[in-house]
Amino acid sequence: MDTTDETRLSETLAAIDAAGDTDTLETQRVAALGKAGWVSALLKTLGRMSPEERQVAGPRIQAMRAAIADAIEAKKTALEDAAMEAQLAAERLDLTLPARARPKGSIHPVSQVMDELAEIFADMGFSVASGPEIEDDWHNFTALNMPESHPARAMHDTFYFPDQGPVVAGSPTRMLLRTHTSPVQIRSMVERGAPLRIIAPGRVYRSDSDATHTPMFHQIEGLVIDEGIHLGHLKWTLETFLKAFFEREDIVLRLRPSYFPFTEPSVEVDVGWQDVSGRRVLGGDGDAPGHGWMELLGSGMVNRRVLEFAGLDADRWSGFAFGVGVDRLAMLKYGMDDLRAFFDGDVRWLEHYGFDPLDVPTLSAGTGAPA
Ligand code: PHE
Repeated sequence: MDTTDETRLSETLAAIDAAGDTDTLETQRVAALGKAGWVSALLKTLGRMSPEERQVAGPRIQAMRAAIADAIEAKKTALEDAAMEAQLAAERLDLTLPARARPKGSIHPVSQVMDELAEIFADMGFSVASGPEIEDDWHNFTALNMPESHPARAMHDTFYFPDQGPVVAGSPTRMLLRTHTSPVQIRSMVERGAPLRIIAPGRVYRSDSDATHTPMFHQIEGLVIDEGIHLGHLKWTLETFLKAFFEREDIVLRLRPSYFPFTEPSVEVDVGWQDVSGRRVLGGDGDAPGHGWMELLGSGMVNRRVLEFAGLDADRWSGFAFGVGVDRLAMLKYGMDDLRAFFDGDVRWLEHYGFDPLDVPTLSAGTGAPA
């Protein structure tokens, strides 16, 4: 074995091992394995050898070439790993350090009020149910005791879906944007039976628009079904809920006899407000100048016909239902006077009226401390 080559090999391997960066490594690679490198030069000598010599020298030179290539590869990986470790150490983030800036963004008043309501009703044993916003005619109207010819349908300004072929008005499959959350009453009774205690928050749609009406708005439906439920339960529940929500005992409520096809009897609830420098704030004499009533919710005892439509035994079960306008609740509690601003997406409005994302409403802390 040629000792000069052996010496060169060990020198090269030592230099590779000692290399502190990839540039040094590359210099070593070029010196040995590059076009003019010494190993390449040795490989070229094979052509001039006799077959016997080549049989001995060939594997030896190839082995040297492989040893050097392997050493370079191994060292390269080691250098890269070390570089990565150093980078990770240098760029380490201490997540326990206090944030340098307050997080941006805020909770929309509608979301805040929905959270508050879920909290209040959870405390009274209600669970949250939901239904589709694209609803069918049967759930939105018929099963709620509004057959095709019912005049109450006209009051809903319904958005119907076009292009459904030759559909007949009132047919169970005619699709629409739900005009209220009441279809969730039907879905809940059909799916879960009785007894039942649910609220159903969500978006509803009516072709209607002014300062206090938008084509899309939010409602929360409430439904209680059990044995022996009567109007007293309804009244207590609404009063308890509204006092908890407005966080005051002196809110002025006006309960009016009303009519909904799906409740009998029906009660409509308004809350009194007064005008304070252009804002609506709670309280005062609704009938006096500068005062008013805001219609907040419709309610009543669930009509027998509705129980029957939902497949319940109307002789055994009774219940009450209510539907609250969430946006209106927000307007009154937080003193806004134009509903349209809710949906403008104006950041300044949100910064003014929005809520701290970290301030989750709880009953014990008060349900809605403004940010
Ligand atoms: N769904 C009715 C509305 O949107 C409100 C309501 C709900 C009335 C439940 C009675 C019972 O106007």
